Amino acid sequence: MISMEDFIRGIPKAELHLHIEGTFEPELMFAVAKRNNIRLRYGSVQEIRAAYEFTGLQDFLDIYYEGAGILTTEQDFYDLTLAYLRKARSQNVLHSEIFCDPQTHTARGVKFSTVMEGIHRAITDAAEESGISARLIICFLRHLDESAAMETLDEALAYKDRITAVGLDSTEIGHPPSKFRGVFDRARGEGFLTVAHAGEEGPAEYIRQALDLLKVSRIDHGIRCLDDTALIDELARRRIPLTVCPLSNLRLRVTGAMESHPVGEMMRRGLMVTINSDDPAYFGGYVNENYLAVARAFNMTREDIGRLAKNSFTASFLSGREKDRLAAKVDEYMNQYG
Ligand code: HPA
Ligand code: ZN
Repeated sequence: MISMEDFIRGIPKAELHLHIEGTFEPELMFAVAKRNNIRLRYGSVQEIRAAYEFTGLQDFLDIYYEGAGILTTEQDFYDLTLAYLRKARSQNVLHSEIFCDPQTHTARGVKFSTVMEGIHRAITDAAEESGISARLIICFLRHLDESAAMETLDEALAYKDRITAVGLDSTEIGHPPSKFRGVFDRARGEGFLTVAHAGEEGPAEYIRQALDLLKVSRIDHGIRCLDDTALIDELARRRIPLTVCPLSNLRLRVTGAMESHPVGEMMRRGLMVTINSDDPAYFGGYVNENYLAVARAFNMTREDIGRLAKNSFTASFLSGREKDRLAAKVDEYMNQYG
């Protein structure tokens, strides 16, 4: 029988919560900074990694936006995205739904089209190279106001064929989903699906708002749902997927030790949980390291891992036919190694 580590490594899976700017590894950061004639305040890759000691979400975001600020040309976005997709494919990720934060770039004078073209070209090349499929979700920055999100949505309309959904990320507390009701209404009217970060650091009430006001198809993080029994029941009944990111929560001190992470209870309550890496270059692990961390902490069985992998396809924005095709690959794998 293969080890749990090898079992996790090999199982086909999708990744549904991944910020492309959060895949910016220090090595690539140095290369991109050099070709753009940007001086970093760090002298080495080791120095950058040593700075990744976060006290909370905001502390992380400050460093994350600084790194993202190096990305300037279409080639930068291409290199970043291709490197991630190759890494993901090496972990048997067959499908990925990628977040990007256009406002982080357009605010610096980088064109929306530069971001889109670079990412799209990498998605196309990666698909050709390895068969991995990917979709794009643009996130509005919740620390900015709704009119800025509206302007971003205006730009996104020209890229409807390349953008599947809109989401909401950045500083959560003090910036409830209700602040973005108008722009999400309009986005849905234009045919975009919707998701939102909710209940990462913020309260269960923000998850409720994301469902009721933003009409999201998935909740990103959502771990604070455990504070509200009626909400848990509704999430379970409606099979609303929650894109949980265990190593992120640990590194941002949103939760304590992995053994007490909410994901164990969430699975026991019958919620549609998926496991994801969030910002792998910053949190010490890609998707497989996240699976392994929860598998160890909760002494999970292969059936548990199989369910998480299957959920990842079911919860994706692929067509019903594609979901069935990929879920069948999980069944096949379970029959062989489960
Ligand atoms: N939460 C909110 N915003 C983010 C995150 C996150 O975990 N990662 C990148 N932007
Ligand atoms: Zn996130």
